[in-house]
Amino acid sequence: MRIAFVASEVAPFAKSGGLADVAGALPRHLRDLGHDIRLFVPLYSSIGQRAADVTPLSTAQGVPLYLGPHFYRFSIVEGRLPDTNVPLYFVHCPEVYDRTTLYTDGVDEHLRFLVLQRAALETCQRLAFAPDIVHCNDWHTALMPLMLKTLYAWDALFGATRSVMSIHNIGYQGIFAHGTIHDIGGDVRGLLEPAAASGGPINWLREGVRHAHAVTTVSPTYAQEICTPLGGHGLDADLRARPDGVIGILNGVDYSEWNPATDRYLKHHYTADDLSGKAATKRALLDWLNLPVADTTPLMGIVSRLTVQKGFDLLFDTLPEILATRDLALVALGSGEARYEDFFARLQHRFPDRVVFHRGYHDELAHLIEAASDMFLMPSMYEPCGLNQMYSLKYGTVPIVRRTGGLADSVQMWDPSTRQGTGIVFNDFDAGGVWWAIHTALDLYKDRDAWLQIVRNGMAQDFSWERQAREYEAMYLALPRG
Ligand code: ADP
Ligand code: GLC
Repeated sequence: MRIAFVASEVAPFAKSGGLADVAGALPRHLRDLGHDIRLFVPLYSSIGQRAADVTPLSTAQGVPLYLGPHFYRFSIVEGRLPDTNVPLYFVHCPEVYDRTTLYTDGVDEHLRFLVLQRAALETCQRLAFAPDIVHCNDWHTALMPLMLKTLYAWDALFGATRSVMSIHNIGYQGIFAHGTIHDIGGDVRGLLEPAAASGGPINWLREGVRHAHAVTTVSPTYAQEICTPLGGHGLDADLRARPDGVIGILNGVDYSEWNPATDRYLKHHYTADDLSGKAATKRALLDWLNLPVADTTPLMGIVSRLTVQKGFDLLFDTLPEILATRDLALVALGSGEARYEDFFARLQHRFPDRVVFHRGYHDELAHLIEAASDMFLMPSMYEPCGLNQMYSLKYGTVPIVRRTGGLADSVQMWDPSTRQGTGIVFNDFDAGGVWWAIHTALDLYKDRDAWLQIVRNGMAQDFSWERQAREYEAMYLALPRG
């Protein structure tokens, strides 16, 4: 199959979260299955020299784009996904991508991602690349199914194209004032949902859900959750209205990137058979962070975007109390909303010998925390898939998670009677739940035999992309042909 895969992030070039990991890995594995897949992403100015090995695509230079009253020119520079021959088409349009952050709250935010979507389809035309599949990811690319039915409907190149809308996070929908309808172009009014058609704001993700040939999301449990009023963030009725439903495919892990036996950031590698490298990594990180704690003190890690989704509100009262009463050290890495940054900063201030908060984004430290920690905390309010709990399993770092979305699908509660299970899982989104989970983990940590068994159970799990990519392939193949 010929596949155009379009996303707003791709690791290692531009990343704010798990979408980048998926866009950097899934295409490679679809390529390994024999598909002709091409990736389209913005050339953000922050990518800079990381995209050094690129050449201008001669058929797509200075291409004019009219978005309503706005006029842009874009050019494509072609690279490769690292260590693959998957073409990576960077959309170069400094007017919209020369910003300090990937996302902005500026007035032209919709234009920035209209440029991406239009550039992807215009480039297919210029390359005479007739995609069997246009694979859209999240709201930034959610208007392409609609564009294929309107602006590009005339072009036989797209006559057999099927569109797939993958939802990585339904909490972000891309909702813009009705007036932006002119920027989309084409005769879309008759196809928009009724409220948008009659003057209301335009919700991009809703239109993606309504017009794509298939809607997928990143775990089976999240596929069920978003079809309910509680989990649907207002789109549940649109999702339920789809006769074919929502297909849940758990994300995979890129084990070439996340493997304690080969991790390029680790000095001390390790495997399930010999965990001495994990102990050495813990010691080294504690020393580097200047934390005067013993090897026997359990170390808990957190690596996260600090947003309401991630559930850290539950820690405001519980974590200070637990740190005050139990032997525990914490290393947290993340940035985001001020109230969470302030909370972790205050925690470090109150427990300077046992808590380190690193505010910011830091790839290497993220790997070190995964490897050095004994346990990893993800108390998410909702979690479409979540990748860090799967990384943690591989690194022998016991995940403590709430039973939601992909966390529910990838971590099994430890059962002392069968000695099965890979982590600590709590059900209710309340302080009592996380309080119970952390205490349970700390108690279990003292039972060295049980702990080692949980660690080994986790390290034996396999969430490789090889298998998950086949599920995407099967989903593509099952799409009705026109
Ligand atoms: P989400 O996409 O909702 O942020 P995921 O668990 O799917 O959650 O993916 C998060 C990804 O981003 C992981 O690869 C994680 O290691 C990485 N990450 C998140 N915050 C940071 C940070 N501050 N520094 C480095 N990596 C981070
Ligand atoms: C989103 C979700 C996360 C998921 C990631 C990749 O950012 O919040 O749970 O793992 O996308 O699909």
